Amino acid sequence: MEIFEKYVSNFDMNDEMVERKYKHTLRVANLTKFIAKNLKLDEKEISIAYLCGLYHDIGRFMQIKKYHSFDDLRTIDHGDLGYKIFLNQIADKEDLSSREESIIAKSIMYHNKVKVPSKLTDNQKKFIWITRDADKIDILYQKTSLKNGVPLDDCEVSDKVREQFLNYESVDYKYVQNNTDKNILLLAFIFDLKYDESLKIIKDNKFVEKMREILADAKYDEYFKILDSYIKERFKC
Ligand SMILES: [Fe+2]
Repeated sequence: MEIFEKYVSNFDMNDEMVERKYKHTLRVANLTKFIAKNLKLDEKEISIAYLCGLYHDIGRFMQIKKYHSFDDLRTIDHGDLGYKIFLNQIADKEDLSSREESIIAKSIMYHNKVKVPSKLTDNQKKFIWITRDADKIDILYQKTSLKNGVPLDDCEVSDKVREQFLNYESVDYKYVQNNTDKNILLLAFIFDLKYDESLKIIKDNKFVEKMREILADAKYDEYFKILDSYIKERFKC
């Protein structure tokens, strides 16, 4: 934690973007720990999961400093940037084995990719999935509870975005053309949640219901219906 704090102290906490990512990071770190505990991982694994959450967005701070943007497509992939920063500036300061270093670095690299590569080991994938789940849960928390900018517009859902959603897939940001697509991308986060423990957090906090209240437009009805039946099917209830 002190190593993370020391790194972040190089950035301007008065900048709203920096502050937002800092707070997001702390919540995600707690969520990774919570999910790891619920998955009954051992103490060492729980502490590694916590570090995956703590460092998952480490690339964001430099991205903000350099570009003042979160737009990976127009600036830099913050997962790739974070991977390099972690390995070059942080890993040797944390007390980690090379295997643990690699698990955390890969979780940073793949937390923001559309898919997790199948070539990785099951153990690496486990930590990447925990990180991705925690990140997505907190983004939905921000959108529903902090109401951090859910943009609305009069557009229809783009064909490719619709196709991915109907296939229960994550929506690829490169197909997003308008604010309606952005909202469908958010809803599709639910399909990417790997663990039932994560989906339970979504259910317990009523994030889908809250999104439905925010997106009170008939064009979203079909998508919420699909989500409802998907969640019911996963919990068989
Ligand atoms: Fe991220």
